[in-house]
Amino acid sequence: MPEEPVIASKAPAVLKLEPGVYWWCSCGRSKDQPFCDGSHGTTGFRPQKVEIAEEKNVALCNCKHSKTQAFCDGSHSRL
Ligand code: FES
Ligand code: FES
Repeated sequence: MPEEPVIASKAPAVLKLEPGVYWWCSCGRSKDQPFCDGSHGTTGFRPQKVEIAEEKNVALCNCKHSKTQAFCDGSHSRL
């Protein structure tokens, strides 16, 4: 059985991000959602790199079931 991520929230994190590199939490265990805080530990999950070239508004997936990780694709509405 593949490991299931924890559903941190069934709503995306809508944020304005400055240019830079961010690490999105794919496991749902981080206390610093939607970003990785290292809590994935020994699970099979790893954070996903998100590179932002210019300031923009994003909706990052908090349910961890998006097919377009790290971005919300609406999958949270079917959980
Ligand atoms: Fe979730 Fe790191 S804490 S991927
Ligand atoms: Fe995960 Fe929207 S919050 S798909």
